[in-house]
Parts: sequence; C-alpha cells; structure tokens
Amino acid sequence: MTQKEFEMNDKLASIGKKFLIPGDIYAFSVIKRGNINATYRVSYTSDEGAIDTYIFQRINTYVFKNPVEIMENIEQVTSFIEKKNAAKVSLKFRHTKDGKNYCYDDDSSFWRVMNYIDSVTFDISDDPNVIVSTGEAFGQFVMLLSDFDGSKLHETIPNFHNTGKRLDTLFSHESIAPYEVLDVCEKELRYIHEVANKARKLSDKFLAGKFPVRVTHNDTKCNNVLFDKDTKRPLVVIDLDTVMPGMAMYDFGDAVRFIANTCHEDEPDVRKVSFDTSKFRAFCKGYLGQVKNILTKDEIDSLVLATFSITIELAARFLDDYILGDVYFKVDYPGHNLVRTRCQLALAKDIMRKYDELQKIIEETVS
Ligand SMILES: Nc1ncnc2c1ncn2[C@@H]1O[C@H](COP(=O)(O)OP(=O)(O)O)[C@@H](O)[C@H]1O
Ligand SMILES: [Mg+2]
Repeated sequence: MTQKEFEMNDKLASIGKKFLIPGDIYAFSVIKRGNINATYRVSYTSDEGAIDTYIFQRINTYVFKNPVEIMENIEQVTSFIEKKNAAKVSLKFRHTKDGKNYCYDDDSSFWRVMNYIDSVTFDISDDPNVIVSTGEAFGQFVMLLSDFDGSKLHETIPNFHNTGKRLDTLFSHESIAPYEVLDVCEKELRYIHEVANKARKLSDKFLAGKFPVRVTHNDTKCNNVLFDKDTKRPLVVIDLDTVMPGMAMYDFGDAVRFIANTCHEDEPDVRKVSFDTSKFRAFCKGYLGQVKNILTKDEIDSLVLATFSITIELAARFLDDYILGDVYFKVDYPGHNLVRTRCQLALAKDIMRKYDELQKIIEETVS
C-alpha cells in the first residue's frame, strides 16, 4: 500500500467504526463513475471469515449545502421502500450508535454507508433493452412510493423545477444585461419568450395544487440505476440526494430528454441534435408498464408537455448562466453555456415537431 492508500484505509476504518461495522477492512477501491460525491467500495472480513462489502460515500457538501435534510429524506424513502419490497434488492443505509444514517468525520467531512450491490451501471446507452430497463426502474420507483405522501419530504432545493420562476429569473436578468451580450443570444431569447407560457403551464398547475405531490428523484439518468450483471435487468434506483416532493412527469421528462437526445448536451452543431422517438418508445414501455395504473390520466396526458417544459427550463438555466457570466455551471470554454442552450432549444423544437407522434406513443403504450 502507498502512504496515501494507507491513510485512506485508516480514514475508512474510522468511518466504518462510527457505523458499527464489525471486523476489519480487507480491501477497498475508489468508484470513479460518479461525478459529485466520492464513492468507495469497502470490503470487511468478519470474525467468521465471511466478506461483507459496503459503499462508503463522502458527500460533496459544496454542492449539497443541507446534507442532514438530504439524509432525512433518504431515511424516509429507503425505509418505506424496504418495508414494502422486502424480498427484492434495496438500498440499506447503516446507522451510527445514535441512530443516524450519516456521520461527520473529525475533519467535518460528511459520510454515509450503504450495502454494496453487485451490479453494473451504464453512463449512456443505445441498447433498447437497457433503455426499457431504465424506464422500468424509474417507473418502479414511482410505483413503490405511490402511497408515500411526498409533502413529508424536505424541499432541499426550493423551486428546483418551478419552470415559471426559472423563466422569470432569466427574463429579469435579460432586462439588465449589456447590449453586447443580448445581441449574441437574441434568437434564443426570442424563442424562449415565445414558448414561455406553454413551458410554465405544468409547474404553475402543480403550484396551484392541481397535480399529486409525488416523491421525485430529480436525477433520472441511467447511471443512477444498478443493473444485474448477467441479465441486465434493473435492480434498484440509487443516488437519492435530490429526492424531493414534485411532479412525476418532470422526472419522466428529464429522463427522456437525456436518453433520447441523439447528441451530447454540448454538441456545437445543432443540426445533429434530434429527439429519437424509438428511444422514447423504449423508455415509455418500461416506465408506463409500471405506472400506467398509478399516475392519473391528467399526469399521463402531460408527459410529453413535461418533456418539452423541462427542456426549455434547462435551456433557460444555461442561458441565464451565460448572461450572468458562467457563475453556476462549470464551463470548458467561453460560450459553453450558450452552446448548451442552443442544444436544448434544438431538442425542444424537435420535441415540438414530433409532439403528436410522441403523444400517440404514450397512448399506444398505456392501452
Ligand atoms: N449501493 C451501491 N452498490 C453498488 N454500486 C454503487 C452503489 N451506490 C453507488 N454505486 C456506484 O457508484 C457510482 C456513483 O454513485 P452515486 O450515488 O450515483 O454518486 P454521484 O452522486 O457521485 O453520481 C454509481 O454510478 C455506481 O456505479
Ligand atoms: Mg450518480
């Protein structure tokens, strides 16, 4: 072991003690996939010689300012799912001697520990089976939590998907932005103004209490689903840091916005950007198979509009950050946020073009 590994081993051992894990560390490795938290796979040998493996995560408290509220949400959600789903794979967080599912280390870093699930993850996938399974996993998440009162959760990022507020913020910054900046993004702003009323419709309706308050995941990417190594069937949804009360449709919309985009989120040539209807169909098959009898008709009828709305919302956030001088999203070059805006707008326009076709796919899949 190098000196650094030795120190890390000591660190993990001291965290393990706080979570009352018996035995000694046998091996550990860093999982490099996630890009927010630091994740370690840590194996222990018990007195009987068995090996138990855990996931240790140091939470990025720069990104997540209120980790205790996050862990309280996670506690509520995972214990609810576990009770319901006892026979299947589930995330089980370890507790400290005072019953908390998190701890602070001596250097004030914030840690949690859960069971390691032998599995694979995919960053992005073109495989229709993986897309169906991703839909199934997120649909199952909605299904398992359908009788959980979402309003019991902390809204850890207030107004996260308040599209109307996101748009108002953009427009207020537009009104005080320098001419040279506005000149570059005039076309983009014009389009966002044109579709603003449509894009804010669902979130305004939600705020008026006209949709059920669901438990939402808010990071519905396929690398937040663990799959069985052999069968590639979905096992469990992970990365519950952004679990909050919200609209089921926005989780759906965000998932397909990502999975059915034919390009990366910062493709400079927007002519390449389109919304892949066969990937959308595959996701719908998995998702709606789980939720078609759970979501209300109004929610199901709003899935396509939610996909459009969340795409405009993200475009508005990128454009707002561009106007403000890149203060929120990390950029690799000047204008990166404008490139991202243009990509999301190209995607939104394609969703609009294919609106009836997408709506028909939903109808066919639920019938
Ligand atoms: N309980 C677990 N069992 C197995 N692998 C896990 C588990 N939790 C996380 N991972 C792996 O670690 C990666 C990062 O974890 P995640 O919770 O998604 O963190 P981040 O917020 O950094 O994305 C996942 O993509 C997955 O590969
Ligand atoms: Mg993740």
